Amino acid sequence: MLAQRIQAVKPSATLKITALARQLKAQGKKVINLAAGEPDFDTPASVKEAAIAAIREGFTKYTPTSGIPQLKEAVAEVFQRELGVRYRPEQVVVTCGAKQALYNLLQVLIEPGDEVLIPSHYWVSYPEMVRLSGGTPVEVRTDPKEGFRLKADQIERAITPRSRVLILNSPANPTGAVLDEGRLKEIARVAVLRGLWIVSDEIYCRLVYGVPHVSIASVSPEAFARTLLVDGVSKSYAMTGWRIGYFAGPPEVVEAAERLQDHSTSNPSSISQRAALAALTGDQICLSEMSAEFGRRRDFLLQRVLRIPKISLIEPEGAFYAFLNISGTGLTSGDFSNRLLESAHVALIPGEGFGWDDHVRVSFAASQEELREGFDRLERWIRSL
Ligand SMILES: Cc1ncc(COP(=O)(O)O)c(C=O)c1O
Repeated sequence: MLAQRIQAVKPSATLKITALARQLKAQGKKVINLAAGEPDFDTPASVKEAAIAAIREGFTKYTPTSGIPQLKEAVAEVFQRELGVRYRPEQVVVTCGAKQALYNLLQVLIEPGDEVLIPSHYWVSYPEMVRLSGGTPVEVRTDPKEGFRLKADQIERAITPRSRVLILNSPANPTGAVLDEGRLKEIARVAVLRGLWIVSDEIYCRLVYGVPHVSIASVSPEAFARTLLVDGVSKSYAMTGWRIGYFAGPPEVVEAAERLQDHSTSNPSSISQRAALAALTGDQICLSEMSAEFGRRRDFLLQRVLRIPKISLIEPEGAFYAFLNISGTGLTSGDFSNRLLESAHVALIPGEGFGWDDHVRVSFAASQEELREGFDRLERWIRSL
């Protein structure tokens, strides 16, 4: 018999569609993949060189659990420069991807039975991570008419005496929604007043289109004191495989999360830490080129969707996803995705796993040619329904 804690965890909603796409590809079909959760660009050459140099130098041993001092300093500097929040390097913990940062934080903040508020649209792993920590995920419904942007009164209504943590994700996966400063101030005011911790997942903070990214940690000293700020190099620098994320926050939480990491993974790969250091401290041209290209694809997508019947889209302001409303087709997101893949060989992700069964997630981490072909096929298929 397996442990109760793992029995309660749902399998990933994206796996079924990915397995089916792989099967079709193996049969020789040309599948257009609009399902990817990672940039389609290569890791910058200078970053790879830094990793190769680390290996050659023999920088291949354990490091301090929370990361090498130079990387922690670099993270603190970037947080100050880009987000306007001042942490000491000792307040930074480097983790095996942002995922581990989120997982560890929930492990150290949640008591069994505590409630964690998750605005929906949400990234598929949040509720499962909460369950693994013994907590109860509480979905806070956002309004598509508001572009899925969370409002303070929606949290206020969901708070109970057991509420302990609010998870924020701006820019968001899967909607690309970005929370502006005014909204963040209101949300922070409620969270502080009600004594919530704010776990702020800002992994897409460098990928915004025409709007500024604001961190909730920067909106007031009180918000700063209650926020655990999570980020990483995976998405901004096309480094998903290197597994480097990080977070910063109040010393008592940082120290606890470090203790947890001491007894689980210890440090993230020494070589990847050197690579991440090169990414954060090197020239940022690759980053601006990548985000400009994502911006062009986003603009293309916005125009293209207008010409397709039965689907609509709320303009994504960040990340590299668009959340298509498919309610006009009358299909559930699972049926829509399966049938689209089987008939037109286009893979995208059902919205069900993100809390919205009448939506599907399209990723624009695909070349412009693939996007064009993918949307041509999508249009033909929808017109044939
Ligand atoms: C919102 C969000 N947070 C965190 C992560 C995990 O990032 P990492 O690869 O650094 O663990 C992802 C990856 O898809 C994500 O979409």
